Amino acid sequence: MNRKILVANWKMNPQTFVEAERLAKAVSDAARKAKGVEVVLCPPFTWLTDLSHKLKFVSWGAQDTFWEERGPFTGETSPAMLKNSKVDYVIIGHSERRRWLHETDQMINKKVLAALRAKLKVILCVGEPLSVRKKGLQAAKNFVKNQLQKDLKNIYNLKPKTHNLIIAYEPIWAIGTGKPDDPAETAEMSRFIKEYLKPKTYNLKPKVLYGGSVTSLNIGRILEYNEIDGALVGGASLKANEFKKIIQWKSIR
Ligand code: PGA
Repeated sequence: MNRKILVANWKMNPQTFVEAERLAKAVSDAARKAKGVEVVLCPPFTWLTDLSHKLKFVSWGAQDTFWEERGPFTGETSPAMLKNSKVDYVIIGHSERRRWLHETDQMINKKVLAALRAKLKVILCVGEPLSVRKKGLQAAKNFVKNQLQKDLKNIYNLKPKTHNLIIAYEPIWAIGTGKPDDPAETAEMSRFIKEYLKPKTYNLKPKVLYGGSVTSLNIGRILEYNEIDGALVGGASLKANEFKKIIQWKSIR
């Protein structure tokens, strides 16, 4: 079985550096001992670079980046700044940013291209709302396909080839609700995404992660599918013991 990627999306938490460091240290200790997983921590920007210079055994990710390289863009952070701060991953297009910051597919596309150009590993989030999923898995696939088409526009112009692209399938109705997707359906969606991105126009081989109410109780059932390459974990990544169990998913099954 391939190495699974477990990404902790801390979102806008915790509120102090002391708490952030305590949590990150506990995860880094657990990651040092864990086998067959790569652990990626994505703290808020305020804590990210302090932590990334201090702690080992985990990789670091940002929760967003900007599409320009430098200049008068108040409040923004460039892909190169991240790359120069021991940050290897960046989450782009999370549904919360699409919703609260009104990020469009066009903005997300520009961010994806800029981040890949800077050699960051991009975790592009896609996923359908409940109204779509109620119509069935095929409707969800169509929705996701449409997002991929827009968010990955012109990706084939990029050189070198973009093996740094990871897709996080996060059905919006599963995020923070305690109601995860059925792992068999996630696996089917993951196969669909890989198949869709394979043909000539894209020529990509992305890893696909699942996100949405992942816990230590359901992680085993999700990751036992070969076509699911890992998980993007929100709420459960803020509790050290819970996230440690997720990292050790193989041994606690
Ligand atoms: P959740 O969030 O694990 O709290 O559902 C996942 C995410 O938003 O990435």
